[in-house]
Amino acid sequence: MNPILSVRDLHISFGGVKAADGVDLDIYPHEFIAIIGPNGSGKTTFLNLCTGYIRPTRGSVIFEGRSITNQAPRTITRRGIARAFQIPQLFTGHSLIENVMLSVAAQHGIWQAFRPLAHEAYRKKACEVLDLMSLGDIAHGPTANMPEGLRKLTDIAIALALKPRLLLLDEPTSGVSTAEKFALMDTIVGVLRAEKVTALFVEHDMDVVERYADRVLVWDAGQVIAGGPPQEILCSSHVLERVIGIS
Ligand SMILES: Nc1ncnc2c1ncn2[C@@H]1O[C@H](COP(=O)(O)OP(=O)(O)OP(=O)(O)O)[C@@H](O)[C@H]1O
Ligand SMILES: [Mg+2]
Repeated sequence: MNPILSVRDLHISFGGVKAADGVDLDIYPHEFIAIIGPNGSGKTTFLNLCTGYIRPTRGSVIFEGRSITNQAPRTITRRGIARAFQIPQLFTGHSLIENVMLSVAAQHGIWQAFRPLAHEAYRKKACEVLDLMSLGDIAHGPTANMPEGLRKLTDIAIALALKPRLLLLDEPTSGVSTAEKFALMDTIVGVLRAEKVTALFVEHDMDVVERYADRVLVWDAGQVIAGGPPQEILCSSHVLERVIGIS
């Protein structure tokens, strides 16, 4: 099977900090991969490099066999990669459905949203994706002061409305209570599997990693230092020491 995403020898530094220091990896269709690593190890930077928010000084990013290196975020989204953010970026003066519609419209040129026919098509698409994420009942409600779990789900709904084949999730459970984490992940994973979307998710909670990841990649100082099934990686003394702080 050909990889859906291949990165080779990716490099970027900020001042003296090597945030990506020769990253090489292949992601295969339908995988659900966890990225773990200490704070500042370059996990978010990797997502930024794959989605065009940061350009590498060296190396390449290949998506479905074609280079996307140095392309703009909007071009990469159109090619089929979407992302959800560590801190969801919602228009809090607008309802959930308006947030999803604005995102879909932005991909086509924002003025399209004001044409009645286009408006109706975006509304239909937004309803479908909010239903999929079990947010249909509150679709017309406000996004201001929503609990963090619902903000995360809304951000992912926005990403899914763009019909990606690869979704990059930056800490989908951060800021969500331990009691709610598994329910949130059940919803996310259920939808991604049903829609056949390949996904990478950055995660600090090892219980979540163990339960949901097919494969785990370990970041440290801008490098991938280990990779494999969760049961193997989460038992490695090196990983436990570097990532979880247990020695
Ligand atoms: N745009 C930027 N400008 C300057 N420095 C940056 C920038 N982006 C990342 N860095 C630095 O690069 C390093 C890696 O940052 P990154 O955000 O990728 O870490 P992370 O693994 O996502 O950490 P966390 O777990 O805390 O989210 C850090 O030292 C960070 O300060
Ligand atoms: Mg980060």
